Amino acid sequence: MTIIIYLTCLSLRKEVYVMEECVLGVDLGTSSVKVLAVNRQGKTIAQEKMDFPLHQPLPGYAEQNPEDWVNATTVAIVRLILNDRLNPNQIKGISYSGQMHGLVLLDKDNQVLRPAMLWNDTRSTKQRFEIMNRMGEKFVKLTHNLPLEGFTLPKLLWVKENQPDIFKKVKVMLLPKDYLRFRMTNNLAIDYSDATGTVMIDVQNQCWSKEILNAFNIPESICPKLVKSIDNTGNISQWYAKYSGLSVKTVTFAGGADNACGAVGAGIDSSNKILSSIGTSGVILKYEENKSTNYEGILQFEDHAIPNAFYSMGVTLSAGFSLNWFKNTFAAAEKFDDVINGARESSVGANGLLFAPYIMGERAPYADANIRGSFIGIDGIHKRCDFVRAVLEGIIFSFKDILNKYEENNSHFDTVIAIGGGAKSKLWQQIQANIFNVRVISLSNDQGPGLGAAMLAAVGLEWFNSVKECAVQFVHFKDVILPNSNNVQRYQELYKIYKKIYPTTKDITHELVSFRKNY
Ligand code: XUL
Repeated sequence: MTIIIYLTCLSLRKEVYVMEECVLGVDLGTSSVKVLAVNRQGKTIAQEKMDFPLHQPLPGYAEQNPEDWVNATTVAIVRLILNDRLNPNQIKGISYSGQMHGLVLLDKDNQVLRPAMLWNDTRSTKQRFEIMNRMGEKFVKLTHNLPLEGFTLPKLLWVKENQPDIFKKVKVMLLPKDYLRFRMTNNLAIDYSDATGTVMIDVQNQCWSKEILNAFNIPESICPKLVKSIDNTGNISQWYAKYSGLSVKTVTFAGGADNACGAVGAGIDSSNKILSSIGTSGVILKYEENKSTNYEGILQFEDHAIPNAFYSMGVTLSAGFSLNWFKNTFAAAEKFDDVINGARESSVGANGLLFAPYIMGERAPYADANIRGSFIGIDGIHKRCDFVRAVLEGIIFSFKDILNKYEENNSHFDTVIAIGGGAKSKLWQQIQANIFNVRVISLSNDQGPGLGAAMLAAVGLEWFNSVKECAVQFVHFKDVILPNSNNVQRYQELYKIYKKIYPTTKDITHELVSFRKNY
């Protein structure tokens, strides 16, 4: 009898659990897609992840096949339904976070014309300088950004110059998550936070810049309709419902750039908080209330996924990527956590060893695609633990370079919220607090940009009146790490030495890059 009652309770409980309403946050990253199912209380009730390949056919190239994004996302959704037993009817809304700046080109039948060129593809240096030669300061005034290789416009101009037959056929230009959403709904749109990352937006007037389009003979018709991140972008199509098992009743919402969504999911909704995010790239990001703020392109300036808000940021191109590279190259057989924990055996300043993480070039504050990384000060006493510690510290020194720009601009902040790799290790979080000399807080539900995307769907569905109101329910802070004054001082001394690495290694590493290109 007891067993029967127990089993009945269990099955009832499962029924209640399975049928609760939820939203999906689709986080389309550079190496994988992660799909989170989040309930009305902000609890992640299920999640699935699927990897896809990155193609680097030549140095500086980084491409992906957009079909891989669609397939990987679909596998993750099918697993949510079959393995995690989500009922398609309980999924009320879906929204998206996307790797930024990637260029997807479609022809008149909405077929993909060439592999997507990604944010870390740096082949368009020539086009970058042509844009500046043609438009100069006017460009920075309009977009609040420089036309760096990573952004979309120089990539589009690279295609125009190097693949004119393809360019002639272009009818639509999309960013990665917008292509994915298009395949799920049949609707073409781009949200403001990703659109500013194309550097084709007139920030003051919040529209595609006619001046830029005219200057480079780009038809405005290829630029999709601009929408807000919380806007309804249509229901799941009949075709995609059949393909994935989702319901056609599920509504999609536009979503935003991954850094905007990471900021939403970390509760960055006021200008005293800075986000420090370590994924493949690393980002220091600050909420900006005023669209007239302009860091002259040294820092990026973008529309936020929060309506009528903005953010500025500086990107370290190889943050987590530097650590992965080090581990895969020198400790391939070992566990990641063991390698990182090894850094505890070293000391502040890695026993006099410095690392500059420019292994794929650098974005902020140097905007130099040809700078390369270095270990400086290698000594016969150094052990592997010193090298690991130097990598962890070097990434944070490169963040400090970005934070300095805020200090120079008298832009006040008192809290850093750490997400991603830098928040997973207490040691790395403490290194951040000491190098930044400010408190560093981690999240108890650090789900990355996927949570931000889920929040945009929750607000789109009107479960909440605003993103801020949703954050109260969805975002929870965990550890608060304070700076240790002795170590702050040691790092200040060390940082003065670190700052000399860029100017003193610039010419040498540029020559090495040309040397490699010649052979
Ligand atoms: C931001 C940038 C990267 C990508 C990573 O400008 O290029 O952070 O968004 O997906």
